[in-house]
Amino acid sequence: MAIQAPATRPANPRFSSGPCAKIPTFSLDLLKDAPLGRSHRAAIGKEKLKAAIETTREVLGIPADYKIGIVPASDTGAVEMALWSLLGARKATMCAWESFGAGWVTDVVKQLKIDAEVKTADYGDIVDFADVDFDTDVVFTWNGTTSGVRLPNGDKIPSDRQGLTICDATSAAFAMDLPWDKLDVTTFSWQKVLGGEAAHGMLILSPRAVERLENYTPSWPLPKIFRLTKGGKLIDGIFTGATINTPSMLAVEDYLVALDWAKSVGGLKGLIARADANSNVIKEFCDAKPWIANLANDPATASNTSVCLKFTDERIKDGAAFAKAVAKRLENEGVALDIGAYRDAPAGLRIWCGGTVETSDIEALMPWLEWAFEAEIAAQ
Ligand SMILES: Cc1ncc(COP(=O)(O)O)c(C=O)c1O
Repeated sequence: MAIQAPATRPANPRFSSGPCAKIPTFSLDLLKDAPLGRSHRAAIGKEKLKAAIETTREVLGIPADYKIGIVPASDTGAVEMALWSLLGARKATMCAWESFGAGWVTDVVKQLKIDAEVKTADYGDIVDFADVDFDTDVVFTWNGTTSGVRLPNGDKIPSDRQGLTICDATSAAFAMDLPWDKLDVTTFSWQKVLGGEAAHGMLILSPRAVERLENYTPSWPLPKIFRLTKGGKLIDGIFTGATINTPSMLAVEDYLVALDWAKSVGGLKGLIARADANSNVIKEFCDAKPWIANLANDPATASNTSVCLKFTDERIKDGAAFAKAVAKRLENEGVALDIGAYRDAPAGLRIWCGGTVETSDIEALMPWLEWAFEAEIAAQ
Protein backbone atom coordinates (compact mmCIF):
# COMPACT_ATOMS: atom_id res chain seq x y z
CA MET A 1 0.00 0.00 0.00
CA ALA A 2 1.40 3.40 -0.97
CA ILE A 3 2.28 5.56 2.04
CA GLN A 4 2.49 9.29 2.55
CA ALA A 5 5.75 11.04 1.69
CA PRO A 6 7.82 11.76 4.82
CA ALA A 7 7.94 15.34 6.05
CA THR A 8 11.73 15.62 6.45
CA ARG A 9 14.27 15.46 3.62
CA PRO A 10 18.00 14.88 3.94
CA ALA A 11 19.69 18.29 4.00
CA ASN A 12 22.26 16.87 1.57
CA PRO A 13 20.97 14.19 -0.84
CA ARG A 14 24.47 13.26 -2.07
CA PHE A 15 25.04 9.59 -1.25
CA SER A 16 27.21 8.68 -4.26
CA SER A 17 29.99 6.14 -3.74
CA GLY A 18 32.49 8.23 -5.67
CA PRO A 19 32.97 11.08 -6.05
CA CYS A 20 31.56 11.08 -2.52
CA ALA A 21 29.90 13.95 -0.68
CA LYS A 22 32.26 16.78 0.04
CA ILE A 23 33.04 17.71 3.63
CA PRO A 24 29.97 19.18 5.34
CA THR A 25 31.67 22.58 5.70
CA PHE A 26 32.66 22.77 2.03
CA SER A 27 32.57 26.02 0.12
CA LEU A 28 34.73 27.14 -2.82
CA ASP A 29 36.08 29.95 -0.60
CA LEU A 30 37.99 27.32 1.35
CA LEU A 31 40.22 26.82 -1.71
CA LYS A 32 41.32 30.44 -1.93
CA ASP A 33 44.89 29.63 -0.83
CA ALA A 34 45.49 27.31 -3.81
CA PRO A 35 48.65 28.45 -5.64
CA LEU A 36 46.87 28.55 -9.00
CA GLY A 37 48.79 29.54 -12.11
CA ARG A 38 52.09 28.75 -10.39
CA SER A 39 54.52 25.95 -11.10
CA HIS A 40 53.98 22.91 -8.92
CA ARG A 41 57.78 22.85 -8.65
CA ALA A 42 57.88 26.35 -7.10
CA ALA A 43 58.50 26.37 -3.34
CA ILE A 44 54.82 26.98 -2.55
CA GLY A 45 53.64 24.12 -4.77
CA LYS A 46 56.18 21.70 -3.34
CA GLU A 47 55.22 22.74 0.19
CA LYS A 48 51.54 22.00 -0.49
CA LEU A 49 52.33 18.60 -2.01
CA LYS A 50 54.60 17.72 0.90
CA ALA A 51 51.90 18.84 3.35
CA ALA A 52 49.39 16.56 1.56
CA ILE A 53 51.78 13.64 2.03
CA GLU A 54 52.67 14.33 5.65
CA THR A 55 49.12 15.15 6.76
CA THR A 56 47.99 11.89 5.15
CA ARG A 57 50.63 10.12 7.26
CA GLU A 58 49.45 11.92 10.40
CA VAL A 59 45.72 11.29 9.95
CA LEU A 60 46.06 7.66 8.82
CA GLY A 61 48.81 6.80 11.33
CA ILE A 62 51.16 5.57 8.61
CA PRO A 63 54.57 4.51 10.01
CA ALA A 64 57.46 6.94 9.54
CA ASP A 65 59.44 4.44 7.46
CA TYR A 66 56.64 3.98 4.88
CA LYS A 67 56.80 6.04 1.68
CA ILE A 68 53.74 8.00 0.55
CA GLY A 69 53.54 9.24 -3.03
CA ILE A 70 51.07 11.33 -5.03
CA VAL A 71 50.75 9.68 -8.43
CA PRO A 72 48.82 10.19 -11.67
CA ALA A 73 45.49 8.65 -12.66
CA SER A 74 43.67 8.36 -9.38
CA ASP A 75 43.42 5.05 -7.51
CA THR A 76 43.59 3.09 -10.76
CA GLY A 77 46.91 4.74 -11.56
CA ALA A 78 48.32 3.89 -8.13
CA VAL A 79 47.21 0.25 -8.32
CA GLU A 80 48.50 -0.20 -11.87
CA MET A 81 51.88 1.32 -10.94
CA ALA A 82 52.19 -1.21 -8.15
CA LEU A 83 51.09 -4.20 -10.24
CA TRP A 84 53.32 -3.38 -13.18
CA SER A 85 56.35 -2.42 -11.08
CA LEU A 86 56.31 -5.12 -8.43
CA LEU A 87 54.70 -8.29 -9.73
CA GLY A 88 56.51 -11.07 -11.53
CA ALA A 89 59.27 -11.59 -8.96
CA ARG A 90 57.31 -14.49 -7.43
CA LYS A 91 54.00 -16.22 -7.87
CA ALA A 92 50.92 -14.07 -7.28
CA THR A 93 47.54 -14.68 -5.68
CA MET A 94 44.70 -12.51 -6.91
CA CYS A 95 41.73 -12.18 -4.54
CA ALA A 96 38.49 -10.61 -5.75
CA TRP A 97 34.98 -10.34 -4.34
CA GLU A 98 33.50 -7.70 -6.65
CA SER A 99 34.13 -5.88 -9.91
CA PHE A 100 37.14 -3.69 -9.03
CA GLY A 101 39.03 -6.65 -7.61
CA ALA A 102 38.02 -8.60 -10.72
CA GLY A 103 39.52 -5.80 -12.83
CA TRP A 104 42.90 -6.28 -11.15
CA VAL A 105 42.66 -10.02 -11.85
CA THR A 106 42.15 -9.31 -15.55
CA ASP A 107 45.17 -7.02 -15.61
CA VAL A 108 47.49 -9.47 -13.96
CA VAL A 109 46.32 -12.62 -15.72
CA LYS A 110 45.47 -11.31 -19.20
CA GLN A 111 47.76 -8.30 -19.61
CA LEU A 112 50.83 -9.07 -17.52
CA LYS A 113 50.31 -12.83 -17.98
CA ILE A 114 51.74 -13.60 -14.57
CA ASP A 115 51.65 -17.02 -12.93
CA ALA A 116 48.77 -16.33 -10.54
CA GLU A 117 46.27 -18.24 -8.48
CA VAL A 118 42.89 -16.55 -8.69
CA LYS A 119 40.56 -16.70 -5.70
CA THR A 120 37.13 -15.17 -6.08
CA ALA A 121 33.93 -14.96 -4.08
CA ASP A 122 30.47 -14.06 -5.33
CA TYR A 123 28.90 -10.68 -4.58
CA GLY A 124 28.01 -10.73 -0.89
CA ASP A 125 30.78 -13.13 0.11
CA ILE A 126 34.51 -12.76 0.70
CA VAL A 127 37.64 -14.80 0.02
CA ASP A 128 38.84 -16.54 3.19
CA PHE A 129 42.39 -15.33 3.83
CA ALA A 130 43.07 -18.49 5.85
CA ASP A 131 43.32 -20.25 2.45
CA VAL A 132 45.70 -17.73 0.91
CA ASP A 133 49.43 -18.39 0.60
CA PHE A 134 51.09 -15.17 1.75
CA ASP A 135 54.48 -16.33 0.53
CA THR A 136 53.09 -15.32 -2.87
CA ASP A 137 52.37 -11.68 -3.73
CA VAL A 138 48.73 -11.16 -2.79
CA VAL A 139 46.53 -8.53 -4.45
CA PHE A 140 43.13 -7.60 -2.99
CA THR A 141 40.63 -4.79 -2.49
CA TRP A 142 40.06 -4.08 1.22
CA ASN A 143 36.53 -2.82 0.78
CA GLY A 144 34.68 -4.05 -2.28
CA THR A 145 32.97 -0.81 -3.23
CA THR A 146 30.46 -2.51 -5.51
CA SER A 147 29.45 -5.34 -3.16
CA GLY A 148 29.74 -3.58 0.18
CA VAL A 149 31.85 -6.43 1.51
CA ARG A 150 35.11 -5.70 3.35
CA LEU A 151 37.85 -7.48 5.19
CA PRO A 152 36.97 -7.35 8.89
CA ASN A 153 40.68 -7.03 9.81
CA GLY A 154 44.12 -8.15 8.70
CA ASP A 155 44.55 -10.86 11.33
CA LYS A 156 44.95 -13.66 8.78
CA ILE A 157 47.83 -11.91 7.00
CA PRO A 158 51.01 -13.30 8.58
CA SER A 159 53.64 -10.89 9.86
CA ASP A 160 56.42 -13.15 8.55
CA ARG A 161 55.05 -13.42 4.99
CA GLN A 162 57.56 -13.74 2.17
CA GLY A 163 55.36 -12.16 -0.49
CA LEU A 164 54.06 -8.61 -0.71
CA THR A 165 50.48 -7.59 0.01
CA ILE A 166 49.06 -5.10 -2.50
CA CYS A 167 45.84 -3.54 -1.25
CA ASP A 168 43.41 -1.31 -3.11
CA ALA A 169 41.98 0.58 -0.14
CA THR A 170 40.25 3.40 -1.96
CA SER A 171 36.88 3.03 -0.24
CA ALA A 172 38.48 1.95 3.06
CA ALA A 173 41.17 4.54 3.85
CA PHE A 174 39.82 7.17 6.29
CA ALA A 175 36.90 4.93 7.30
CA MET A 176 38.43 1.66 8.47
CA ASP A 177 41.44 0.64 10.54
CA LEU A 178 44.14 -0.46 8.12
CA PRO A 179 46.90 -2.57 9.73
CA TRP A 180 49.96 -0.96 8.16
CA ASP A 181 52.30 -3.74 9.28
CA LYS A 182 50.24 -6.18 7.16
CA LEU A 183 50.12 -3.96 4.06
CA ASP A 184 53.10 -3.50 1.73
CA VAL A 185 51.34 -1.44 -0.91
CA THR A 186 48.19 0.53 -0.20
CA THR A 187 46.37 2.82 -2.59
CA PHE A 188 43.45 5.24 -2.51
CA SER A 189 42.14 8.34 -4.23
CA TRP A 190 40.98 11.66 -2.86
CA GLN A 191 37.40 11.68 -4.11
CA LYS A 192 36.39 8.69 -2.04
CA VAL A 193 36.11 8.81 1.75
CA LEU A 194 37.27 12.42 2.14
CA GLY A 195 35.13 13.69 -0.73
CA GLY A 196 38.12 15.36 -2.39
CA GLU A 197 38.48 16.17 -6.06
CA ALA A 198 39.25 13.30 -8.42
CA ALA A 199 42.65 13.46 -10.07
CA HIS A 200 45.44 11.83 -8.16
CA GLY A 201 46.21 8.51 -6.55
CA MET A 202 48.03 7.85 -3.30
CA LEU A 203 50.62 5.09 -3.26
CA ILE A 204 51.89 3.93 0.13
CA LEU A 205 54.89 1.60 0.24
CA SER A 206 56.29 -0.43 3.12
CA PRO A 207 60.08 -0.84 3.44
CA ARG A 208 59.69 -4.36 1.96
CA ALA A 209 57.92 -2.96 -1.09
CA VAL A 210 60.74 -0.44 -1.55
CA GLU A 211 63.28 -3.23 -1.22
CA ARG A 212 61.50 -5.17 -3.99
CA LEU A 213 61.43 -2.10 -6.22
CA GLU A 214 65.15 -1.55 -5.77
CA ASN A 215 66.12 -5.18 -6.35
CA TYR A 216 63.76 -6.39 -9.07
CA THR A 217 63.25 -5.21 -12.62
CA PRO A 218 60.19 -6.53 -14.46
CA SER A 219 60.77 -8.12 -17.84
CA TRP A 220 58.20 -5.84 -19.50
CA PRO A 221 58.67 -2.18 -20.44
CA LEU A 222 57.30 0.46 -18.05
CA PRO A 223 55.91 3.76 -19.31
CA LYS A 224 57.32 6.90 -17.67
CA ILE A 225 54.09 7.39 -15.76
CA PHE A 226 54.62 4.05 -13.91
CA ARG A 227 58.35 4.36 -13.21
CA LEU A 228 59.16 4.46 -9.50
CA THR A 229 62.91 3.79 -9.71
CA LYS A 230 65.89 5.15 -11.57
CA GLY A 231 69.18 3.28 -11.77
CA GLY A 232 67.93 0.70 -9.25
CA LYS A 233 67.03 3.35 -6.64
CA LEU A 234 63.61 4.61 -5.59
CA ILE A 235 62.88 8.04 -7.08
CA ASP A 236 62.61 9.78 -3.73
CA GLY A 237 61.09 12.94 -5.18
CA ILE A 238 57.80 11.16 -5.88
CA PHE A 239 57.48 10.60 -2.12
CA THR A 240 58.38 14.13 -1.05
CA GLY A 241 56.16 16.12 -3.39
CA ALA A 242 58.10 16.18 -6.68
CA THR A 243 55.39 14.44 -8.68
CA ILE A 244 56.08 12.50 -11.90
CA ASN A 245 53.98 14.90 -13.94
CA THR A 246 51.84 17.96 -13.30
CA PRO A 247 49.27 17.71 -10.51
CA SER A 248 46.19 19.91 -10.07
CA MET A 249 47.04 22.39 -7.34
CA LEU A 250 43.31 23.08 -6.93
CA ALA A 251 42.73 19.38 -6.18
CA VAL A 252 45.72 19.41 -3.80
CA GLU A 253 44.30 22.40 -1.93
CA ASP A 254 40.92 20.71 -1.71
CA TYR A 255 42.55 17.56 -0.30
CA LEU A 256 44.43 19.65 2.29
CA VAL A 257 41.14 21.29 3.32
CA ALA A 258 39.49 17.86 3.62
CA LEU A 259 42.38 16.58 5.75
CA ASP A 260 42.01 19.62 8.03
CA TRP A 261 38.32 18.88 8.40
CA ALA A 262 39.17 15.23 9.14
CA LYS A 263 41.40 16.39 11.98
CA SER A 264 38.62 18.65 13.29
CA VAL A 265 36.25 15.67 13.69
CA GLY A 266 38.77 13.62 15.64
CA GLY A 267 41.03 12.30 12.88
CA LEU A 268 40.82 8.67 11.84
CA LYS A 269 38.92 7.64 15.00
CA GLY A 270 36.35 10.35 14.41
CA LEU A 271 35.98 9.41 10.74
CA ILE A 272 35.50 5.73 11.56
CA ALA A 273 32.92 6.62 14.21
CA ARG A 274 31.00 8.73 11.69
CA ALA A 275 30.98 5.96 9.06
CA ASP A 276 29.98 3.39 11.70
CA ALA A 277 27.12 5.57 12.92
CA ASN A 278 25.89 6.09 9.35
CA SER A 279 26.02 2.43 8.38
CA ASN A 280 24.38 1.42 11.68
CA VAL A 281 21.35 3.53 10.85
CA ILE A 282 20.91 1.50 7.66
CA LYS A 283 21.58 -1.77 9.46
CA GLU A 284 18.88 -1.06 12.04
CA PHE A 285 16.47 -0.06 9.30
CA CYS A 286 17.12 -3.30 7.34
CA ASP A 287 16.83 -5.39 10.53
CA ALA A 288 13.37 -3.93 11.09
CA LYS A 289 12.09 -4.33 7.51
CA PRO A 290 11.42 -7.74 5.93
CA TRP A 291 11.74 -6.44 2.35
CA ILE A 292 15.32 -5.19 2.30
CA ALA A 293 18.66 -6.70 3.34
CA ASN A 294 22.38 -6.03 3.20
CA LEU A 295 24.15 -7.69 0.27
CA ALA A 296 26.93 -8.80 2.64
CA ASN A 297 26.04 -12.29 3.83
CA ASP A 298 28.23 -12.14 6.94
CA PRO A 299 27.54 -9.00 9.01
CA ALA A 300 31.21 -9.03 10.13
CA THR A 301 32.17 -8.21 6.55
CA ALA A 302 29.50 -5.55 5.92
CA SER A 303 31.04 -2.27 4.76
CA ASN A 304 30.67 0.94 6.76
CA THR A 305 31.20 3.04 3.60
CA SER A 306 29.61 1.55 0.45
CA VAL A 307 26.53 -0.05 1.97
CA CYS A 308 24.92 -2.30 -0.66
CA LEU A 309 21.32 -3.37 -0.28
CA LYS A 310 19.05 -5.86 -2.03
CA PHE A 311 15.26 -6.02 -2.14
CA THR A 312 13.94 -9.34 -0.89
CA ASP A 313 10.17 -8.97 -1.27
CA GLU A 314 8.57 -11.81 -3.23
CA ARG A 315 6.06 -9.48 -4.84
CA ILE A 316 8.84 -7.87 -6.90
CA LYS A 317 8.50 -9.00 -10.52
CA ASP A 318 11.68 -7.66 -12.15
CA GLY A 319 14.43 -7.07 -9.56
CA ALA A 320 16.65 -4.86 -11.73
CA ALA A 321 13.82 -2.67 -13.02
CA PHE A 322 12.38 -2.38 -9.51
CA ALA A 323 15.65 -1.23 -7.91
CA LYS A 324 16.23 1.27 -10.71
CA ALA A 325 12.72 2.65 -10.33
CA VAL A 326 13.15 3.09 -6.56
CA ALA A 327 16.46 4.93 -7.07
CA LYS A 328 14.87 7.11 -9.77
CA ARG A 329 11.89 7.94 -7.57
CA LEU A 330 14.22 9.07 -4.78
CA GLU A 331 16.32 11.10 -7.19
CA ASN A 332 13.22 12.77 -8.64
CA GLU A 333 12.21 13.78 -5.12
CA GLY A 334 15.71 15.20 -4.57
CA VAL A 335 16.22 13.06 -1.47
CA ALA A 336 18.93 10.68 -2.74
CA LEU A 337 21.26 11.06 -5.70
CA ASP A 338 23.31 8.29 -7.32
CA ILE A 339 22.26 5.38 -5.10
CA GLY A 340 21.63 2.73 -7.76
CA ALA A 341 23.81 -0.39 -7.44
CA TYR A 342 27.01 -0.40 -9.54
CA ARG A 343 26.38 -1.51 -13.14
CA ASP A 344 28.13 -4.91 -12.71
CA ALA A 345 26.70 -5.63 -9.25
CA PRO A 346 23.44 -7.42 -8.37
CA ALA A 347 20.34 -5.24 -8.60
CA GLY A 348 19.78 -3.05 -5.58
CA LEU A 349 20.89 0.17 -3.95
CA ARG A 350 24.21 1.45 -2.69
CA ILE A 351 24.24 4.19 -0.10
CA TRP A 352 27.56 5.84 0.76
CA CYS A 353 28.11 6.13 4.50
CA GLY A 354 31.66 7.53 4.69
CA GLY A 355 32.50 10.26 7.19
CA THR A 356 31.59 13.23 5.00
CA VAL A 357 27.95 12.12 5.10
CA GLU A 358 25.95 13.41 8.07
CA THR A 359 24.14 10.77 10.15
CA SER A 360 21.04 12.99 10.26
CA ASP A 361 20.87 12.74 6.45
CA ILE A 362 21.00 8.94 6.49
CA GLU A 363 18.31 8.98 9.21
CA ALA A 364 16.15 11.29 7.10
CA LEU A 365 16.61 9.05 4.05
CA MET A 366 15.31 5.82 5.64
CA PRO A 367 11.59 6.73 5.73
CA TRP A 368 11.92 7.89 2.12
CA LEU A 369 13.32 4.48 1.20
CA GLU A 370 10.22 2.86 2.62
CA TRP A 371 8.04 5.40 0.84
CA ALA A 372 9.71 4.70 -2.52
CA PHE A 373 9.58 0.94 -1.98
CA GLU A 374 5.85 0.97 -1.20
CA ALA A 375 5.12 3.32 -4.08
CA GLU A 376 6.97 1.08 -6.49
CA ILE A 377 5.26 -2.09 -5.22
CA ALA A 378 1.93 -0.36 -5.77
CA ALA A 379 2.99 0.85 -9.23
CA GLN A 380 4.23 -2.53 -10.54
C1 LIG B 1 37.70 -0.48 -5.04
C2 LIG B 1 37.94 0.51 -6.14
N1 LIG B 1 39.07 0.45 -6.86
C3 LIG B 1 39.32 1.31 -7.85
C4 LIG B 1 38.43 2.29 -8.19
C5 LIG B 1 38.75 3.25 -9.29
O1 LIG B 1 39.13 4.42 -8.67
P1 LIG B 1 39.64 5.71 -9.44
O2 LIG B 1 38.49 6.20 -10.24
O3 LIG B 1 40.06 6.61 -8.32
O4 LIG B 1 40.78 5.30 -10.29
C6 LIG B 1 37.23 2.41 -7.47
C7 LIG B 1 36.24 3.44 -7.83
O5 LIG B 1 35.13 3.44 -7.42
C8 LIG B 1 36.98 1.50 -6.42
O6 LIG B 1 35.86 1.59 -5.71
